[in-house]
Amino acid sequence: VTDSSTLLSHHGDDEVGPGLSDFAVNVAVPTPPSWLRSALAEALADVAAYPDPQVAVTAVATAHRCEPASVLMTNGAAEAFTLVARSRRWRAPAVVHPQFTEPESALRALGYSPTQAMLLPRNHFRLDPEVVPASADLVIIGNPTNPTSRLHGRDGIRALLRPGRVVVVDEAFMDLTPGERESLAGEAGGTRGLVVIRSLTKTYGLAGVRAGYVLAAPEEIRALAAHQPHWSVNHLALVAATTCLGPDGVRHRTRVAGNLTGNTGHLLAALRAAGLEPVPDPAGPFVLARHPAAAALRQGLRERGFAVRRGDTFPGLGPDWLRVAAREPVAVDSLVRAMTQELSMLGAHR
Ligand SMILES: Cc1ncc(COP(=O)(O)O)c(C=O)c1O
Repeated sequence: VTDSSTLLSHHGDDEVGPGLSDFAVNVAVPTPPSWLRSALAEALADVAAYPDPQVAVTAVATAHRCEPASVLMTNGAAEAFTLVARSRRWRAPAVVHPQFTEPESALRALGYSPTQAMLLPRNHFRLDPEVVPASADLVIIGNPTNPTSRLHGRDGIRALLRPGRVVVVDEAFMDLTPGERESLAGEAGGTRGLVVIRSLTKTYGLAGVRAGYVLAAPEEIRALAAHQPHWSVNHLALVAATTCLGPDGVRHRTRVAGNLTGNTGHLLAALRAAGLEPVPDPAGPFVLARHPAAAALRQGLRERGFAVRRGDTFPGLGPDWLRVAAREPVAVDSLVRAMTQELSMLGAHR
């Protein structure tokens, strides 16, 4: 039996297990690159001291061309959702779904019942500003969105801003999009009511280190920081952030983003050929796809050694949805062969 909070706290890592090929977790690389591992190993020498975010804050401010006062380092992007939920008494929070469930969980943990502003499959989950209630004083949206992989235009997100409202844009996967054209990171520091959350855990294979940050106007940053435990972001995460935003990081994410376009294109075509209906134009390192037998297919794939992410734990999606990580084409081909076999078996037993 699963209640809604159990479903909301379900993540891709719950689906992986010994001996399974992982197509469930949405981290873009399996290990941190070697230059980053070296930086982390060197940083171990300094962990006797309490962490000081100043160097990392300067690196983030330089990368996004904003004032250091517009930056807050966080213990992964996930911590930022809790800080947002706590930062003031919200009257009418809204979460644009389907999306990553932690923002909704953070609000629910404080007793809120946010409005679930639903984007629809028939529009391929494109942003429709009409779904956001006019009364909402907090709107949380992902861009690109997990699990739909949909990249919203930044004009559409800007149009959600209005006096008395805070719009939080989760850009955890934005650094993998070409030129970050739809990012609002560069303008968050100077725009009242706009909060941008970034993660370094996906593109650099750092989910276990927990490195993220928030960009917003200085008064908003102060409101968030007031709820953050002291020393929340550890020294290794701060060194990782500083290093990832330097030249090695730029080279790495350009390469990963370059491979991603080919990988997602290959995955999309392979899923279609296997009879699934993928959401087009994926911008993240994963593809969301629909099939009437998705639940049985996911179970059958586990028995064949492959883990894919169930879709039904995301508000707005049912058991006919799966999210599949965009791994290398060779790996995808083995997965899709297994899918085809499983689907033909399921068809034969219908
Ligand atoms: C859209 C989205 N935002 C944020 C996060 C959390 O990022 P972090 O690992 O930096 O806490 C995830 C993790 O899966 C995610 O999918």
